[in-house]
Amino acid sequence: MTSRDQIVWHPTTVSRQDRQERLGQQGTVVWLTGLSGCGKSTIANELDQQLFRRGQATILLDGDNVRHGLCAPPNRLAELHGDAFANRFGLGFGQQDREENIRRIAAVGELFVSAGLIAITAFVSPYREDRLRARRQIESAGGPGDFVEVFVDTPLEICESRDPKGLYKKARAGEIPNFTGISDPYEPPTDPEVRLDGGDESSVDASAAAIIRYLESAGRLRAI
Ligand code: ADX
Repeated sequence: MTSRDQIVWHPTTVSRQDRQERLGQQGTVVWLTGLSGCGKSTIANELDQQLFRRGQATILLDGDNVRHGLCAPPNRLAELHGDAFANRFGLGFGQQDREENIRRIAAVGELFVSAGLIAITAFVSPYREDRLRARRQIESAGGPGDFVEVFVDTPLEICESRDPKGLYKKARAGEIPNFTGISDPYEPPTDPEVRLDGGDESSVDASAAAIIRYLESAGRLRAI
């Protein structure tokens, strides 16, 4: 018997349906993907605000923030846990590290969906396969429609000209390895539920509103 067979799922007595009825919404992961600097975090925050103002229950998971804790890099873990632990569980930006980053977020997203929440996630998530696995995991635990992929489609030149954290400059100088769009790939979604033009900074409100319209039309939220 493998250790996997010795782990048994305990059903909870308050059902997802009970929670959703109280909250007036269907638990959903709204998965924003796009290059660094494409506007994911800004749109995710505006979406969170708009949903919060209309009384929905949400949580926002942002790549940079999550990498401070749940998906911390080795150097953040070493002091408390030692080098061997930090090197085993800390995450960087190599392909497998990103895969594990996205796997952890999908697992957390699944938990939030089971609590009936609208979980907004903002991760570069550059690999199609990782996003597909996240979708499969979340939809197989709940149902179709629980995962909504939103492509924040902003040309690399615009992201690079914004360069809010100065990372593109450093990546071009060869100081950051595996930098998405420069020395690492970004695989755009082929069939996202929502595609947004992230190149126009004046359209942040409209982008958030477009996601909300999609959520209403898909029956995830009550229309108001
Ligand atoms: S992901 O690829 O694993 O989904 P995630 O969204 O968590 O990435 O983190 C991306 C953020 O980390 C970027 O917004 C950027 O600020 C920072 N970053 C640091 N190094 C890299 C890198 N090599 N590639 C992309 N982003 C990086």
